[in-house]
Amino acid sequence: MSDVAGSHDDRPHARDGVLTRRSFFKGAGVVAAGGLVGEAVHAAAHSMSLEPVRLSGEVEIELSINGALQKLKVEPRTTLLNALRNHCNPPLTGAKLVCDRGSCGACTVHLDGQPVYSCMTLAVACVGRAVTTIEGLGAPGQLNEVQQAFCEHDASMCGFCTPGFVMSISACLERKPDATLDEIKHACAGNLCRCGTYPHVFDAALSAGRALRAKGGKR
Ligand code: FES
Ligand code: FES
Repeated sequence: MSDVAGSHDDRPHARDGVLTRRSFFKGAGVVAAGGLVGEAVHAAAHSMSLEPVRLSGEVEIELSINGALQKLKVEPRTTLLNALRNHCNPPLTGAKLVCDRGSCGACTVHLDGQPVYSCMTLAVACVGRAVTTIEGLGAPGQLNEVQQAFCEHDASMCGFCTPGFVMSISACLERKPDATLDEIKHACAGNLCRCGTYPHVFDAALSAGRALRAKGGKR
């Protein structure tokens, strides 16, 4: 699993207020994480120079994940995706590692309700923010409307892309339960499906929107 700096992050919401792997390594976004974690990140924040900052070792952070606080020991370079899958107890493997460079959307989670690529977000940048993964949206027998609609519309084949689509569509419908097909497609613009399930995914999304509206737009 890679922790190295990625190429770029094109998600509509991924860069807003989020310390990305790229900005972290450029040193420009470190202030956003000031006061969040251990000495290593403070040192980087205070440096604010274009000189390379060598960070090593682990820092202890506390993240709010699916409504519960978890203490994690991570390296400053550890991505949120890596932290979820390999540092949480129990591991949260719903977000998938596919491209690991911000181009497929399989790792999408919510950060303060906004969809972000967790492979392009540093774990240390998530302190003090609410992380929600696919596991936090619903559980067997208590699926949210989007998860339920994906089951009913057979919107998954290999399933690697599915959690990312569900997260993107859930965030979209949370904001706008009457989202149009075009708006749903726009919300999923950062998610790729190699199996070609798009028609079923969009049918499921529209169905979930109807279900949400039937409940008054509330979850
Ligand atoms: S694994 Fe994160 S965008 Fe592909
Ligand atoms: S269901 Fe296989 S990649 Fe989408």
